[in-house]
Amino acid sequence: MEKYLPISLLVVLLLGIETSTIEGANILGVFSSYSPSHVIVHMAVVKTLADRGHNITVLTQMKPKFEPHENVTVIVAPPSPAQQSITKEYMARVSSEKESMFSFMTNLFLRPSPVLNGQYEWTLHPKIKAIYENPQTKYDLVILGLMLNDFQLGFAAKLRCPVIMTWVGVPMPAMDSQVANIDDPSYVPSLNVALEPGKLSMGFRLRCVNFITHSFLSTINVLMSHKMQEFYNQAFAKDSGPNFPSYYDMKRRISLLFYNYHAPSEGPIRPTVPQSIEIGGIQVKEKPDPLPKDLAEFLDNGTDGAIFFSLGTNVKFSGIRAQSVEILYKVLSKLPQRVVWKWDDKENTPGNASNIYFGNWLPQDDILAHPKTRLFITHAGKGGIAEAQYHGVPMLAFPIFADQPGNAEIMAKSGFGLHLDVLTLTEKILEETIGELLLNPAYRESVGRFSALYRDRPLTARQSVVYWTEYVLRHQGAYNLQSPLLHMNFVARHNLDVYGTLLVFCLVALLILRMLFRFVFRKVLRVVRGHYRAKASKNKLKDKIL
Ligand SMILES: *[C@@H]1O[C@H](CO)[C@@H](O)[C@H](O)[C@H]1NC(C)=O
Ligand SMILES: *[C@@H]1O[C@H](CO)[C@@H](O)[C@H](O)[C@H]1NC(C)=O
Ligand SMILES: *[C@@H]1O[C@H](CO)[C@@H](O)[C@H](O)[C@H]1NC(C)=O
Ligand SMILES: *[C@@H]1O[C@H](CO)[C@@H](O)[C@H](O)[C@H]1NC(C)=O
Repeated sequence: MEKYLPISLLVVLLLGIETSTIEGANILGVFSSYSPSHVIVHMAVVKTLADRGHNITVLTQMKPKFEPHENVTVIVAPPSPAQQSITKEYMARVSSEKESMFSFMTNLFLRPSPVLNGQYEWTLHPKIKAIYENPQTKYDLVILGLMLNDFQLGFAAKLRCPVIMTWVGVPMPAMDSQVANIDDPSYVPSLNVALEPGKLSMGFRLRCVNFITHSFLSTINVLMSHKMQEFYNQAFAKDSGPNFPSYYDMKRRISLLFYNYHAPSEGPIRPTVPQSIEIGGIQVKEKPDPLPKDLAEFLDNGTDGAIFFSLGTNVKFSGIRAQSVEILYKVLSKLPQRVVWKWDDKENTPGNASNIYFGNWLPQDDILAHPKTRLFITHAGKGGIAEAQYHGVPMLAFPIFADQPGNAEIMAKSGFGLHLDVLTLTEKILEETIGELLLNPAYRESVGRFSALYRDRPLTARQSVVYWTEYVLRHQGAYNLQSPLLHMNFVARHNLDVYGTLLVFCLVALLILRMLFRFVFRKVLRVVRGHYRAKASKNKLKDKIL
């Protein structure tokens, strides 16, 4: 009994201590991304905090798909007509060309895109400007959704409050550098690089690929900083007086980085600082909501299980070849499974097969949680994959652009499914692939094992968001968690001054040693010579005498 005394005492102590709760903080969410799938993840963070009783004001470019909530005020500042047509053209281009990450990034600098100028223009929209120039509310915290927009740290500078950044996936150099995470390319996989299945580290070829990707993204990050600084100065610093913090000052006043990733299950482990908080699966509901009645009945009635087909919110079917849609319809309508197909124009479906349910806004998460769902056909967006992984549903991916080909490859390599190219699709290939995924149990087993690890954590994603956000609110920032690296210059962070000093010491020591040796050597030589001479003259004397 006595052995357990200290432990029981500790338990009593822990139960007794109640961390002071912060009630009803005013939080500003700045989510200017043009991509609805990004905004969905950010809104999941917002919902978590609103349910907890905080009062959140959200600024976006487009109305987010979000159930009205009494504690959330959404302010939408739509892009200008010119910017809208740039976005439309951009989305059409990226979905037809299947842009690689390299050209996606390079094009940011070469062509007009909704990413850079769009977000800058948005920041200057009168509705948005009013929030940071004449705030009617005293904000306690800014949450900034990251996507090449860190000049918007200016919101926090203007409102004089701490800032938390959120990112929708595994950090890239642009996020890692904000908090000084170690992203050594020899063992930390970069964007779109995945370990071979069963391997514990990257082999030579993969390390080459990883090194190039990492260097490319790091270079883009450095170039982008100049652009961001320019935007920051133009939008915020220009008319704010000499005491206004600079862009680089603000980069060192970030409290936390939330990112939608869970290393222990998604792997491999990457070395991160305490300022980076994993909230992997934040957009996945911990308990599914009931489905709309007709959809629930449609799924429940299926005796052979169901397939959920959605190419996400970014890609319209009009952007995909008509022939591919025809093939997809032909194969899916022949299956014994029920199919729930996300389709925007319900008046204009590819057919009326009785086993297919077309819908334009479908509760993806709740459908994947349905026990009848046996396969998810997806564009391989990070969010959809996370939901399917959470619920243990195998996947067939049709990656379209940006990070999707990489996500699909990682998913397939992990054994959770297969991927196909939507532009070169044939009926035979599609039929065979779906058959393999439905009949071979290996996919379901792998993703099931993953699901078990994914859910096993000390704090759920939602609990992490609440705990760490309130930590920042309680302490007016989390600067105590910052890595010293953020406050060091190039020479110090690479220890160049120490190496230099050591080198000088070694050289001086070598010189002294050399002088010492010379001195001693000469001395010895003299003695030896003296001895030799003395001996020689003795011998001469002997000779003479003899
Ligand atoms: C909204 O916040 C209040 C506290 O400010 C809280 O009591 C209430 O439950 C929250 N509403 C919802 C729907 O969670
Ligand atoms: C909540 O936020 C809204 C929008 O910014 C603001 O009008 C309202 O006064 C806030 N409520 C409280 C209780 O602070
Ligand atoms: C489901 O099955 C029930 C009973 O067999 C039937 O009445 C209903 O119309 C079916 N619903 C759908 C959507 O197939
Ligand atoms: C599907 O049914 C609707 C109405 O019942 C009809 O207008 C439409 O032409 C049909 N579509 C096809 C492809 O058969």
